[in-house]
Amino acid sequence: MYIKNTWYAAALSKEISRELFPRTIVNEKIVMYRTQSNQVVALEDRCAHRQVPLSRGRLIGDELQCWYHGLRFDCSGQCVSIPSQATIPAAARVRKFPAVEKFGIVWLWIGSPEQADELLIPDHWVCSAPDLAGEMSYCPIHCNYLFGIDNILDISHAAFVHEKTLGSHDVVGTTPEIIIQDDEIRVRRSIRREKTPPMYMKMLQLDYIDRVQDVIYWPIGNTRVETKAHACDDPNGIAFHVYTTTIFTPATDTSSHVFVGMHRDFDVDNQAFTEFTTKQVIATVLEDKEVAESLQENWSPTAPMCDIQLDRAAFEARRILEKKGANAALRAAV
Ligand code: FES
Ligand SMILES: [Fe+2]
Repeated sequence: MYIKNTWYAAALSKEISRELFPRTIVNEKIVMYRTQSNQVVALEDRCAHRQVPLSRGRLIGDELQCWYHGLRFDCSGQCVSIPSQATIPAAARVRKFPAVEKFGIVWLWIGSPEQADELLIPDHWVCSAPDLAGEMSYCPIHCNYLFGIDNILDISHAAFVHEKTLGSHDVVGTTPEIIIQDDEIRVRRSIRREKTPPMYMKMLQLDYIDRVQDVIYWPIGNTRVETKAHACDDPNGIAFHVYTTTIFTPATDTSSHVFVGMHRDFDVDNQAFTEFTTKQVIATVLEDKEVAESLQENWSPTAPMCDIQLDRAAFEARRILEKKGANAALRAAV
C-alpha cells in the first residue's frame, strides 16, 4: 500500500513539453503535457470510453483527443466532445491530478485533490539555488522504491559498488551518528584525513581531505547527501559544499523513477565541469541501478536475512513510512 496524499516527483520540468508524456506513478497511469500557456496538466492515461492510453492520442489546442474514437478531454479531464453524438454522458471524464512545478521538478498529488497543499512540496532548494551549479537527471530503475531508499541510507556500499567513482574505504570505517528529528533522518559521518575519492579528486584537486557527510532522508522518497570538505587539518580554510539530491518515486511495485543531480558552490560558472559532474552522477546511479535491480530479481520475501548495525537508518525510514500508512516493512518490498 502506498501513501497517496502526498506530492510525488513525477518528471523534471524539462521533460514535459507539448508532446504527450506518459508516466506511471504509484501504479497510476498518467499522461502529462503543457498547455499553450505553459501550464503542466496531468490526466489519467486511460480513456473514459474504452481504456486505451490517451497518451497515444494528440493535442488539439489544450484538449486531448483520444486516438481511437476521437473523444476529446479538456485540462480538467472533462470530455467536451464526442464526434459521433451531441450529448456527453456524465461518466465521460478522466481523473485530473494536481500538478505543480517547483525546483525544476513536476510534482503530482495522487490522493484527494482537495488535500493538495503546495506548502507540503518537499524542499529541494538546492535544485534551484542561484548560487549553486548543477543539473538534475532522470533514471528509471526496475526495483521497488524502498530498495533505493535503503541504498542511500547505508552509504558504506560506496566503497564496493562505487569503487571507481565515489569509493572510499574511510566511509566504511567511520561509525555514523544517526540523528532523527520528526520525520527526518540524518546519517552523519565526520571523516578525517580521508584519501580523496576519485570523483572528488577531480573536483577538489586535493590528495587528502577532511569532510563531514550528512545523508538526509525524509518521506516519501526524498534524499540529499550534503558534503562539506576542506583541505586536511585546515578547518578554517575554504570549505567546498557538494549536495547530491536523489528522489525516489514508486512507479509500480517493482519499478521506480529516480531523479538525481549534484550541485556545488564552487567553480559555478564552469559549465564543462557541470557536465562532467552530471556524467559522474549518472555513472554512479547506473552502478546503484545494477545492484538494486539484481537484488529485486533475487528477492524472496520468505528467504532468511540477517541485519547489520548500518541497517538502522533504513529501518528508521521504513518505520516513518509505516507510521504514515505505507506498507514498508522489510518484507514489504516485493
Ligand atoms: S477508447 Fe477513447 S474514444 Fe473510444
Ligand atoms: Fe550508491
